[in-house]
Amino acid sequence: MTIQWYPGHMAKAKREVNEQLKKVDVVFEIVDARIPYSSRNPMIDDVIKQKPRVVILNKKDMTNLKELEKWETYFKKEGFYPVAVDAKHGKNLKNVEAEAIKVTQEKFNREKAKDLKPRAIRAMIVGIPNVGKSTLINKLAKRSIAQTGNKPGVTKQQQWIKVGKSLQLLDTPGILWPKFEDEEVGKKLSLTGAIKDSIVHLDEVAIYGLNFMITHDLEGLKRHYNVVVDEKAEIIEWFDAIGRRRGLLQKGNEVDYESVIELIINDMRNAKIGTYCFDILKEMKRDM
Ligand code: G4P
Repeated sequence: MTIQWYPGHMAKAKREVNEQLKKVDVVFEIVDARIPYSSRNPMIDDVIKQKPRVVILNKKDMTNLKELEKWETYFKKEGFYPVAVDAKHGKNLKNVEAEAIKVTQEKFNREKAKDLKPRAIRAMIVGIPNVGKSTLINKLAKRSIAQTGNKPGVTKQQQWIKVGKSLQLLDTPGILWPKFEDEEVGKKLSLTGAIKDSIVHLDEVAIYGLNFMITHDLEGLKRHYNVVVDEKAEIIEWFDAIGRRRGLLQKGNEVDYESVIELIINDMRNAKIGTYCFDILKEMKRDM
């Protein structure tokens, strides 16, 4: 489901997350490990402020692990507690509780020193649509709670879910908007399925994806589609070669470009060609 974000929605989403923040000790900011920068809300620091934060890089199974490591280092330097997980297959989830304990240690030590009763750490999940918030909540809860669907902000009746020995998690995530004003980010969001088709031009997304693979995984691209194209060739030659190889043709034996575009985007969204991280740290703009 696509959310159209308007200024009113954004203000409401921010307000609702703000309300929930008062109830928790730590925020789990969840991002897509294929685009750890592009899948962040543009105002996230402003929304979360000083609240201790664990950055959960989800969909670890779909990304490039070397790049992922660099992002973990980046987030650490920024003062956050990063943890990479694969929520869908339930991998590395124990680390979430472990990081939550680390990041709240000081606060809990202070409470202990004041003789306050021991209590569970309270956390909430925040992130843009489709990064896997509901999947993660369900896996942590070990039952089906959060609906996988999108609604800005958070809904009213919320409950605490017990996770492990020392953690309680709000059962409804805070949903914030993506950085859709930046064209390149928009293409990456589309390539990972975070935003749906109406907002971006799919031909541009497919071209962006092809160029990414030509630069970063030329052999993988050729192998997957079983085509031979010179790396210096015009992008249209790739469309032609892939279309012909796959028999995506229309009347007059012409290549059906729409079908080729759809094929490439679907293959990239499902990590069928390779597991890529599209936000490459050393190629990113300095102002991030
Ligand atoms: P949201 O609440 O943040 O909006 O995201 P949600 O949990 O609905 O997840 C969005 C999509 O991402 C779902 O796929 C979900 O299965 C998938 N997903 C979540 N975490 C992971 C992960 O760690 N690895 C992989 N590979 N996929 C993940 P979907 O196609 O919308 O649904 P479905 O086909 O899984 O039912």
